Amino acid sequence: MKQVEWQKQAWDQQDLQAKVLKLKPSATLWINERSAELIAEGKTIYRLGLGQSPFPVPKEVTAALVEHAHEKDYLPVCGLPVLREAICNRLKRYEGIERNAQNVMIGPGSKELIYMVQMALKARLLLPSPSWVSYAPQASLAERNVTWIEASWQDGLRLKAEDLEKACLAHSEERLMLVLNTPNNPSGVAYNEAELRSFAEIFRRYSVLVISDEIYSETHFQGSHISIARYYPEGTLISNGISKWAGAGGWRLGWLSAPNEFAWLIEAMGRIASETFTSVSAPIQYAAISATHDTPSLNQYLSACQQILGELSRQATERLNEVLVNVCKASGGFYLFISLEAHRTKLAARKIEQGSVLAQTLLNEIGVACLEGEHFGRPAQELSLRLALVDFDGKQALEALHTSSPIHEQKLTEIIHVHCSKVITAIDLLCAWVRTHTS
Ligand SMILES: Cc1ncc(COP(=O)(O)O)c(C=O)c1O
Repeated sequence: MKQVEWQKQAWDQQDLQAKVLKLKPSATLWINERSAELIAEGKTIYRLGLGQSPFPVPKEVTAALVEHAHEKDYLPVCGLPVLREAICNRLKRYEGIERNAQNVMIGPGSKELIYMVQMALKARLLLPSPSWVSYAPQASLAERNVTWIEASWQDGLRLKAEDLEKACLAHSEERLMLVLNTPNNPSGVAYNEAELRSFAEIFRRYSVLVISDEIYSETHFQGSHISIARYYPEGTLISNGISKWAGAGGWRLGWLSAPNEFAWLIEAMGRIASETFTSVSAPIQYAAISATHDTPSLNQYLSACQQILGELSRQATERLNEVLVNVCKASGGFYLFISLEAHRTKLAARKIEQGSVLAQTLLNEIGVACLEGEHFGRPAQELSLRLALVDFDGKQALEALHTSSPIHEQKLTEIIHVHCSKVITAIDLLCAWVRTHTS
């Protein structure tokens, strides 16, 4: 063969598609890795960055996984029929909503399923601000336009029906979808019946497709989560999974349930799945069935997690309020969303005028890792932060609660002091830092 001198230039990252090139690493995963690096350097870091459940997977669910470890066959693309049926039964039990098992799709985490919806449909995405970190980057990957609807601190960061209506009206020529996440990450806001009914009216008028992200449903502190699908069943996709309330984030299993009106969407998503991830791991799907059951031990587990999360949130809020930090009132989930705007002038003297500078300063000076509000769609200059109150051993906290029944309020307070001490210390350090730099 004739020798050729010419050689094509080597690959480099400029060969990436522009939309991939501009994608940053997910903020929550980044803060987790950065915290791990600092810990490896010998620093004490309070990990209030990544929102991972502190609790173990319920015993009966891990037992089911062991029992099904031998399952090795590929399962149907949209998921194991008995699991899909069990999810419908659970929805009926909790929300009184009738769904057809054929319209339930199982995916490797609800994150992937939310992305697949965005990929499959031609629509503008409406996002209340604040919203979870990944919806907007997913929209950008799927080449969808995003419109943020900003909620104000005066309204407790709750989406207002009139603002929702304005956004729908401004884009009424286009197909619209919206992610409604309740209880909310990062704010902890859980919408009540009156709010959901008023949203439903607007959604119906503008034919908005709602992705109701209910991944924190069973972390509602009072156990009283309500789905928008009760009031707008025909246009609501319900997204949920075992990552948060069953502590199994790393197992990677989530689901999406659609009304009959959107059977064609589930069918289309099945086609995408068949050419991409094929199906979710078989043993995990079998194990997940037991997480949907109505058993005394599972209910006791959920209720104990809710009590611990609720009390921790209450204590942290109380401490932060004492130093005039504005805390959005949380009704569920793992997070507190806070604002230091009341201290803006004093902090400006230290050149802290943006959320990102505030978060960096706290990591460097007191080892508290958290995320600035900008990642959640808040203005870059807003001095807001999300604190994930999860740096504790949930197994020990649950055991302490279990051995102390009946539970007295004082006992619960004590459990938080003993078993969630690292989170409380981080909050105290933050409060002391605020006092020092704002007095
Ligand atoms: C609001 C919200 N939705 C969805 C997810 C994704 O959950 P998973 O993909 O583990 O089901 C998360 C995870 O952090 C979340 O906080």
